[in-house]
Amino acid sequence: MRSLLQRYTAGMATYVATAAEAPLLDIEELGRLAITDDISLDEIAGLHEGAALALSDRGVPINQPEIIRRMSACLSALMVSAAVAYRTKIDLLEQHRQQERDRTERDRQRLETLGQFVGSVAHELNNLLQPVRGMTELMLADLPGKPPERADLETVEACAIQAVSVIQGILAYVRRETIAPQSLAFGAAVATACTFIRPMLREPFEVAIRDHDTRILALQGELTQILLNLLQNAVQAGATRMRVEVDRIGGDWAVGGAPARMRLRVTDDGQGMSAAVAARALDPYFTTKESGQGTGLGLAIVRSIVLGWSGDLQLQSEPGRGTTISLLLPVAAG
Ligand SMILES: Nc1ncnc2c1ncn2[C@@H]1O[C@H](COP(=O)(O)OP(=O)(O)O)[C@@H](O)[C@H]1O
Ligand SMILES: [Mg+2]
Repeated sequence: MRSLLQRYTAGMATYVATAAEAPLLDIEELGRLAITDDISLDEIAGLHEGAALALSDRGVPINQPEIIRRMSACLSALMVSAAVAYRTKIDLLEQHRQQERDRTERDRQRLETLGQFVGSVAHELNNLLQPVRGMTELMLADLPGKPPERADLETVEACAIQAVSVIQGILAYVRRETIAPQSLAFGAAVATACTFIRPMLREPFEVAIRDHDTRILALQGELTQILLNLLQNAVQAGATRMRVEVDRIGGDWAVGGAPARMRLRVTDDGQGMSAAVAARALDPYFTTKESGQGTGLGLAIVRSIVLGWSGDLQLQSEPGRGTTISLLLPVAAG
């Protein structure tokens, strides 16, 4: 501000003395600069008063008509160039906003196309898996007794069944379909899911089920899919310890507590998430993994399943300190 005043005073002094064009051009430049520096139009007008006072102090007769005319020429050069620069700035801002709007619309269309694409891939995979399931089933029926091949075939069949339910989850998600949940003894269902997942995961994990019998409304296949997604994320985050816990919490009406809920927690000691990643982790198609490593759908699917069960999902994570995902699920009535 001070250097603007000095430059304006200097420009005006020269113009008042010479009526040459150069100082006016310099003043116009000053008007543009003031706008780029975010100086308000009022403050810019105030420069003129300051400069006039400075000239008067130097003994310039600022009341003489010709001097007044030249000083006014300076003021209008300053204000006109500032106003033009201001208008340009507003236009640029508006242009920028329009570009933002266009970009959001493009993102939305991209997500929609991606959704259709994911849906058609899932559909294809589903078709391919049917013969895998059917043929293992037939082979198992033909295998008498318990030869070692039987255990292998049973694993193939179990994996194919799980793959089908994962794919059906994706299909349901992209088609926004939901299947009505059923009453499940939650702790026992988590134990079953864990037994199933163990051979599919590279790393071991601990299971602590502190309530086996309380029932909630859920689906076994979706529960397995949730645990598989959460544990796979933990493995991919470099976890060396992972824990699955089930507790019953709340329900202490006598002391005015919250309604009874089942809590499923998956805790890992992996790399954790920054606040920025955690804020977007549940968004569909958000992934920090290289292409081919992640679809960004894992947590979005987990969340949509949990919402379908009328539950809540909470995420706690810190870089270097691991991650805990908690699901809170209402206890089934009766
Ligand atoms: N347990 C975890 N530890 C660290 N980061 C995680 C964990 N789970 C999820 N994330 C972060 O959230 C992102 C989204 O996860 P997800 O929806 O499962 O998609 P994807 O695994 O395909 O990337 C991951 O790319 C990762 O950055
Ligand atoms: Mg994932």
